[in-house]
Amino acid sequence: MEKITFDVKNFGGLEEIQKISLQHGTPCYIYSQSLLEKNFQAYAQHSSNELICVAIKANSNPVLLNLLGEKGAGADVVSGGELRRALDAGIDAQKIVFSGVGKTAKEIAYAIDQQIYSINVESEQELEQIAKIANEKKQTARVSFRLNPNVDAKTHPKIATGMYENKFGIDEESVFAMYEKSSKQKYVEPVGIHFHLGSQIFSRSPYEKALSEAFKLIEKINAQGFTIEFLNVGGGVGLREASDDEHIQAIEEHMQSIRNALQGKNIRLLLEPGRSIFGNAGLLLSKVLYTKKNQKKEFVIIDAGMNDYMRPALYEAKVNAFVLGKENSPKRTIDLVGPVCESTDTFGKDMELSECEPGDLIALSHVGAYGYSMSSQYNLRPRPSEHMWDGERFVILREPTIET
Ligand code: LLP
Repeated sequence: MEKITFDVKNFGGLEEIQKISLQHGTPCYIYSQSLLEKNFQAYAQHSSNELICVAIKANSNPVLLNLLGEKGAGADVVSGGELRRALDAGIDAQKIVFSGVGKTAKEIAYAIDQQIYSINVESEQELEQIAKIANEKKQTARVSFRLNPNVDAKTHPKIATGMYENKFGIDEESVFAMYEKSSKQKYVEPVGIHFHLGSQIFSRSPYEKALSEAFKLIEKINAQGFTIEFLNVGGGVGLREASDDEHIQAIEEHMQSIRNALQGKNIRLLLEPGRSIFGNAGLLLSKVLYTKKNQKKEFVIIDAGMNDYMRPALYEAKVNAFVLGKENSPKRTIDLVGPVCESTDTFGKDMELSECEPGDLIALSHVGAYGYSMSSQYNLRPRPSEHMWDGERFVILREPTIET
């Protein structure tokens, strides 16, 4: 991801950013309320009966979730903790779906108690567990089945989910059998079909294939006299080398093509976008601590590390780094590294960065998704603070935290 344009004004502008860095220190995440809301709107506009369940694993900050909830967002959750977070942030239980291959009995019981919109079932044994708990409670569990359509989404292998070698979902034949079986259960109500192909997907063809698989299955289920209330097509678009406006356009095009495919089918559309909602709406602000060189390399050492943003270390993700206020200075080829005691604590190798010196602020842009939510206290470093620019001022979301 290089050459992506990044507009500092969406994050308060240089002066305000300098102020917040002095008041609260670095590293810190800064979010843009306007970009966040625009991204959500791009999914939600035109939708009368659609449900956008934001994948809160991408970012579970309660203030951001509350803002999205007020705009009508539901939530895709993958643990009891995320379910509680979504409810605490004011998201309506009737707009929450629960995914994941390993839900515990306690988590299932909690989801049933809260009467969430749907539990996305990922195995036959899980269905039995849900039926048992729902029977004990004498309370109906609404379920959907996660189809594994065996489609190659052509994304990074670590974030692909829609093929048989992945642990996710259930093959078509088994979903059909389980749909029928569950419809005979007194306290289980089968209501939907789900798939999620993976994350960072740019091509339409995996969706076309998965949609056609899903429609075939739905027809077979309908032929047995069962109705299907909704089809959940999983995550959203990838984050590409594009401006914020081009990003919005990509979301709109994706929505349009899915709506076209569903036209005339009388089935509710659900989506679970995460990365494309939060990604460009968040940056990680850090400070240059030192620079140094040897016979081979020049290093810029910043105060943000892999514990604050681990995607480069985990998935070789590229970052976009900007020396704030020095964007037009001559460039040098450097390795951008953090302070954590591991060589993989590297944000970029041989990257072009404006000349900088200790104390300069460096922004890593497009890190609002899977940034803070995957941060850790490795090396006993505090988690970074989080702030949001609401267009006029900074809202302090969270101070740096450390639990020892
Ligand atoms: N729905 C389900 C069932 C999911 O598992 C995911 C992401 C999403 C929706 C959201 O997908 P998105 O719209 O964000 O592409 N930590 C990795 C990404 C893991 C994605 C896991 N599932 C990363 O930083 O790239």
